Amino acid sequence: MEIARALQQVKSSYIREILAAACDKNVISLAGGLPDESTFPIDLMKPMLNSLATMPEVFQYGSTAGYTPLLSFLRDYYQLPDSHQVMVTTGSQQGLDLIARAYIDPGDTVIMEAPSYLGAMQVFGLVQANLVTISQTELGPNLTELERSFVEYKPKMFYAVPDFHNPTGVCWTLETRQKVAQLCQQHEVTFIEDAPYRELRFEGQALPMVSEFCPQHSIVLRSFSKIASPGLRIGVVSGKQSFIEPLIKIKQGADLHSSVPMQALLLGLLQHDDFPAHIESIRSLYKARYETLYSELKQQLPTSCEINAVDGGMFIWVSLPQCDTFELAKQLLATGVAVVPSPVFYPEAESAPAALRLNFTNANQQELIEAVTRLAQGLKSFL
Ligand SMILES: Cc1ncc(COP(=O)(O)O)c(C=O)c1O
Repeated sequence: MEIARALQQVKSSYIREILAAACDKNVISLAGGLPDESTFPIDLMKPMLNSLATMPEVFQYGSTAGYTPLLSFLRDYYQLPDSHQVMVTTGSQQGLDLIARAYIDPGDTVIMEAPSYLGAMQVFGLVQANLVTISQTELGPNLTELERSFVEYKPKMFYAVPDFHNPTGVCWTLETRQKVAQLCQQHEVTFIEDAPYRELRFEGQALPMVSEFCPQHSIVLRSFSKIASPGLRIGVVSGKQSFIEPLIKIKQGADLHSSVPMQALLLGLLQHDDFPAHIESIRSLYKARYETLYSELKQQLPTSCEINAVDGGMFIWVSLPQCDTFELAKQLLATGVAVVPSPVFYPEAESAPAALRLNFTNANQQELIEAVTRLAQGLKSFL
């Protein structure tokens, strides 16, 4: 049977291939975007795990928007205005998929930064969106290009990750957030704010979300994958009621609802007195790992490489002199370190500037130091 035309255009995921190779025990992987398993708050989940055995009602079919006690908790937790609705999704990736299917017809324009989150490019590619990218600066998206793209393409939406971007780690400044919100309001573009790394700030003060400046023109995606566990597969979408209702309709057809026992488990975790301390402990672990990776890269990499400092998230982006980064990644893998080459994060891979994405959350200090030694040796001989 022939596969659908929309799917024929989607390239096989290079990341999946490299992650498979990176499972080799001789390879140190800086390639994935995995949280450290040791941070999963299993102890804090134990009281609710025990209670689940006496809660047959959560093993029944549930409502599509989510488990009601969790929904009411989330409304308060995120201080949502009355006009806004919240919905639980099977990971924030499903939220993204539902948004694309509810709102994008083939040929509709979606604006993204370049580079951008690979999973978002896949989702928008599958609904045959016209993906238009604008460049990213260290302050956030290039605002002149953004405004020009709004005027020229009249896009339906602008998708972005303002807090600790995947793959670059860039965190938008306050001024950028305000300006983007103003442009979205002015040009009637909906801002899709994807915020899975927001809580992983280990330096400085949290900034307001972009959507706080344009609540009627935005949909927010949140995730518990990085601060609880990705295996729970729980994300949250919120926005004004008229934006969320169509998503509920599509989710009904997709999976009826997300797992209710997992939603109850998450609620127990969020209500646990020690949950805030748990997030603090993740932040300090990742801060220490980040500092190790950053300082080793500074010491060992050739000066022609530019290393982006970050205040949170999971990634460091290293810009390189122009070269074939796929070939480089392949050679590095052979020397025992897995990294992700920049072209996979660009819809137009051929014109991608050379860079590597390095993850610092899933390797320990010794592994990070050894990985940089291998990386530096590999780079010196390759460049
Ligand atoms: C920017 C971004 N959005 C969404 C996701 C998907 O997260 P989830 O596990 O909640 O589906 C990821 C996962 O890495 C991500 O990096």
